[in-house]
Amino acid sequence: MPTEHGQIDIVIAAVLDAPKYRNLAPELVRAVAVRELAAHRGVKAAIKATKSKLHQVAGAYVEQRIAPAVWLDRLRSCEPAPGAHDPGAALVQAGLANPRFAHLSDRFLRGAIDLMTRHASIRERLPILQRFYVETLADLPPICSVLDVGCGLNPLALPWMPLAADATYYASDIDRTLISFIAQYLALIGVPGEAHVRDQATNPGGPRVDLALALKLLPVLEQLERGAAARFLDALDAPFILVSYPARSLDGHARGMHVAYERQFAALASGKGWDIRRFVFPGELAFLIKKGAAP
Ligand SMILES: C[S@@+](CC[C@H](N)C(=O)[O-])C[C@H]1O[C@@H](n2cnc3c(N)ncnc32)[C@H](O)[C@@H]1O
Repeated sequence: MPTEHGQIDIVIAAVLDAPKYRNLAPELVRAVAVRELAAHRGVKAAIKATKSKLHQVAGAYVEQRIAPAVWLDRLRSCEPAPGAHDPGAALVQAGLANPRFAHLSDRFLRGAIDLMTRHASIRERLPILQRFYVETLADLPPICSVLDVGCGLNPLALPWMPLAADATYYASDIDRTLISFIAQYLALIGVPGEAHVRDQATNPGGPRVDLALALKLLPVLEQLERGAAARFLDALDAPFILVSYPARSLDGHARGMHVAYERQFAALASGKGWDIRRFVFPGELAFLIKKGAAP
């Protein structure tokens, strides 16, 4: 019978052997494996439970394999030849929140929108994408830097965010393939920034920025470990944090989620002295936190 350490290594190896989990941050896989092994006392059950937890926090959102090279080629091929007439451009560009991206063609933007449909979380936001950022960020001073944590494919929505023209964008998530795609996307649209693999449950935080985005991330962190969401919010070095919660589950049911998440957020904010604005959108509940406001 393998030692406890040996058992953990067996669980980790079995989980990383599955293509669906191979690209996840190793420290996250290890942390989940250690907890599940302690809870289940048996390698086979721990492997199953670890995979199930990783599916809940990451795998469930990506319905199609992320293929950075194919996706970037698709976006590049959406660019019309220089000087070509793109009759739909005005239509989509009228909706852009940032004139810095006026050079992106209608076809490119439609290509980005199409890719956003591949991740359940941002697909749900698509019908309200423009309103979501314009309304939540309306009263903020110019935003020159953003940290998008647990970003998923949300950085694809950059052209619809009202940021300063030269804003820097930092993104992090737990999936290496996703992060590789995001880094190349930032370069493709000419946005300075970086994308990193980082598990916010074991290593919360990121660079100092004007605005941190934690969209639909807090419930996921709490699923991993109770208390992880509070540690994460404390670790962020940003005067403003935009937090959001899903108002529907992935299968489309509401099941009182609104109420439960209002409570979860109220508990996180309790005693912090934050200035908070609340926004209710179809399918998403958001809170803009101003840290350091008077208690
Ligand atoms: C519900 S999705 C939200 C995606 C994006 N923020 C949005 O709203 O469109 C949750 C995201 O958090 C990421 N995630 C899960 N666990 C994480 C962790 N421990 N640290 C960082 N990101 C994590 C997942 O990979 C996934 O992209």
